[in-house]
Order: sequence, then structure tokens, then C-alpha cells
Amino acid sequence: MVCLGNICRSPLAEGLLKSKLDSSQFEVDSAGTGAWHVGNPPDPRSIAIADKYDLDISMQRATHFHYSFLDHYDYIFVMDKSNYKDVINLAENEDQIQKVKLILNEINPEKKQDVPDPYYGGADGFEKMYQLLDQATHTIASRLNRK
Ligand code: 4NP
Repeated sequence: MVCLGNICRSPLAEGLLKSKLDSSQFEVDSAGTGAWHVGNPPDPRSIAIADKYDLDISMQRATHFHYSFLDHYDYIFVMDKSNYKDVINLAENEDQIQKVKLILNEINPEKKQDVPDPYYGGADGFEKMYQLLDQATHTIASRLNRK
């Protein structure tokens, strides 16, 4: 799960997908394309919206996306088109490019919708983000659990 800062959107996406998958079978992690927040916990507003739905993401710490993740993981879900461009720029072959997916295409295929960055907005942005990511991770988990 990849966003810009790895403190608002991708930590919540990580927590939600982990909560829907068996941890003995799947490795789920998140990272940011920017390095400003490396080592920091998620934004308190993301921790709060997760907590509202009984999900604890407070122990996560931000990391910087590394090109080796494109080999290590089977899927790279990015939150918006800017993240997509940044990650694709690090890809070394077509196989890696094919792993990178806009996360909301999982619920609205081909629409190329972004998960709006709630960082500079109000609390309603965090609620909207939660609903979008809950739906998207539900779809992803259903598919992975069927494999
Ligand atoms: P995120 O939100 O990409 O969802 O973690 C942001 C958090 C911090 C910044 C930008 C976006 N920032 O510029 O510090």
C-alpha cells in the first residue's frame, strides 16, 4: 500500500487489508513515495478513524518506498495517480509495471479514481477515506482469499 507520506492513507489501507487476510498466508505492508515522515506513527486523525471502527494502526511506522519492493511484493496498490507515476518510474521491467495498481480501480475498474489526500482537510476527509479503503480492501481480500 503506497501513498505520499505513509502517514494518512496507506497506513489505513495496510491495517484494513491485514484485518481481512490470514497473516500466516499474506504479507501486507505500506510505504510512502516521500521520505519526510519516515519513522513516524500514522497521523493522529488516521489513527482515530481506524479506532472508531475498532482497528489499531497506532504501532505502524512510516517507511520510504524502495524499488526492491517491486520485486518483493506481488501487488503494489497506490492511492493516487501521482503515486502511480512515482512508483512506475522506479520499475525496471514490464512485470514490475503490471504489479502496480490504482487501489480504487479495484472497486471502479478503469475509472482511475484517486483516494483523495485528507492531510490538509477536515475530519470528513478521513471518514470518506475510510469508507473508500474499506470497500477496496474488501474486494482485494475477497479475490485473494478465493485463490
Ligand atoms: P498521505 O498524506 O500521503 O496519505 O500519507 C500526506 C501526508 C503528509 C504529506 C503529504 C501527504 N506531507 O506533505 O507532509
